Amino acid sequence: MKVVQTKKLKKTYHFGDTEVTALREVCLDIEEEEFIAVWGPSGSGKSTLCNLVGLLDTPTSGEVLIRETSAKDLNDAQRSDLRNSSIGFVFQNFNLIPVLTALENVMLPLQVTGVPVVEARERAQKLLQEVDLGDRMGHRPVKMSGGQQQRVAIARALVTNPLLVLADEPTANLDTKNANLIIDLMRRINRDCGAAFLFSTHDDRLLDRVDRRVHLQDGVIIEDDRRG
Ligand SMILES: Nc1ncnc2c1ncn2[C@@H]1O[C@H](COP(=O)(O)OP(=O)(O)O)[C@@H](O)[C@H]1O
Ligand SMILES: [Mg+2]
Repeated sequence: MKVVQTKKLKKTYHFGDTEVTALREVCLDIEEEEFIAVWGPSGSGKSTLCNLVGLLDTPTSGEVLIRETSAKDLNDAQRSDLRNSSIGFVFQNFNLIPVLTALENVMLPLQVTGVPVVEARERAQKLLQEVDLGDRMGHRPVKMSGGQQQRVAIARALVTNPLLVLADEPTANLDTKNANLIIDLMRRINRDCGAAFLFSTHDDRLLDRVDRRVHLQDGVIIEDDRRG
């Protein structure tokens, strides 16, 4: 079964009497366990695509299906449920909560859905070990490097067992070495746990490690390249 399908996804933003079409009828299927890079220059529509696929925003026309359920037919509460149960997010600015420790940050998505603390802690600890931060669990984000913070964010994205992890420019605030480490880490987790990954980047040097590259330009997929 496909994890995600987008059908003629279009997004137009309005401000005043100006109109910008950020995505033009984009059709993209994501298969189970795929590892995909969406790449293109700034302004090509990467964040718009991530926000629509992640059900954080609604399209102007077209639709997003998650496991064959169209988000179009859902009300807000149902859409949030579908999002929370299927998708994990990683952001460019890490978006960790500064007053919480690494462990507490990773536990949070489970706690808001009512998972008992003991179970949430166990699962969060396991994931922090998986991203090689077993010795940093009690640290607050401010005491960690950018690369470490992004690893915490990856653990947090995975803690609910999502079908798909969406990472919008996860390496944009990292140096080349840490950027490569983050891509390799996501790749390893993708192989180990089977969640599909879609990350966006404007840096084509990161594409070597990726099976499928979707090249976005001016809101259009100009190339969708799968390697055998
Ligand atoms: N909230 C918004 N309001 C108006 N225009 C926007 C908004 N978000 C994005 N855009 C415009 O849509 C286009 C695509 O933006 P975006 O999806 O952020 O691209 P990328 O992530 O590849 O840089 C750009 O021209 C951008 O200026
Ligand atoms: Mg962007």
